[in-house]
Amino acid sequence: MEVFTSVSGLRKFLSQQFLQQKSIGLVPTMGALHQGHLALVEAAAAQNDIAVTSIFVNPTQFNNVEDLAKYPRTLEADLELLRVAGCHAVFAPSTEEMYPAQPALKFDFGPIETIMEGASRPGHFNGVGIVVSKLFHMVKPHRAYFGQKDLQQVAVVKRMVADLSFDLEIVVFPTVREADGLAMSSRNRRLSPAERLIAPHIYQILTATRDRIQQGETVGNAKYAALQAFSDIPELILDYIEIVDTATLQNIPEPGEAGTSAICVAVQLGPVRLIDNLIF
Ligand code: PAJ
Repeated sequence: MEVFTSVSGLRKFLSQQFLQQKSIGLVPTMGALHQGHLALVEAAAAQNDIAVTSIFVNPTQFNNVEDLAKYPRTLEADLELLRVAGCHAVFAPSTEEMYPAQPALKFDFGPIETIMEGASRPGHFNGVGIVVSKLFHMVKPHRAYFGQKDLQQVAVVKRMVADLSFDLEIVVFPTVREADGLAMSSRNRRLSPAERLIAPHIYQILTATRDRIQQGETVGNAKYAALQAFSDIPELILDYIEIVDTATLQNIPEPGEAGTSAICVAVQLGPVRLIDNLIF
């Protein structure tokens, strides 16, 4: 497995792969890798000749200084996991390498970024758009892999690919969960043992809300029951729960066809903000 910290080194390696007509799959990450990331890497290695994983804690998408400072960084362990997962090349640049100058360009994704994560984290999706478009230009992948765990990020990236005519396919993979249902996340490492025991309630409330809707309760009543359930667990400080269309991310009065609706939540638990969603 090759590891690059410079854009020029990465480009040199990739230009050799292009000459040999190799297909490239890219998995953008911020490191502190877990099985959710590795499932994407394994898919990229299976579906392409060359799997490239980027590891870069992107400052432009953090609106909380402490979250950026405390974001786990575990490069050596990540490289070992990537080797085992069959990754061919890793791009792990410094902030200066990625941002020789502060970008002037600003993305405006319209209504898909003024809600949920966009509303709670101003500038977040601009930062995601900037870094993901830079990675797409640096790597020129045929396919890029993203997790459904970050449903709104998928919508934003798909919109950017369409608007800017990036010539690549976005491949989305389902959320990988711990045995107790908690969605895997690099931030889970920052939970105390007591908080870690409370965290699975998020998934339990998501599934209970979905079940209520599937049993015929209105979306409004199911959401009200979910709000009650969250308020019964004082450690889980709810930021939002929204029941939305997976394509437009706008609120829906009633569920659409199977697989087109999603329940999305964000909660603060101790020092960590956790997001999750369930598509139904
Ligand atoms: P990060 O949080 O490291 O996630 C990298 C990729 O892994 C994202 O596509 C994310 O949706 C996916 N992922 C995370 N947890 C997952 C899980 N439990 N199951 C399945 N997939 C999961 O998302 C980012 O980094 C950044 O915003 C990035 C796209 C790299 C831009 O900086």
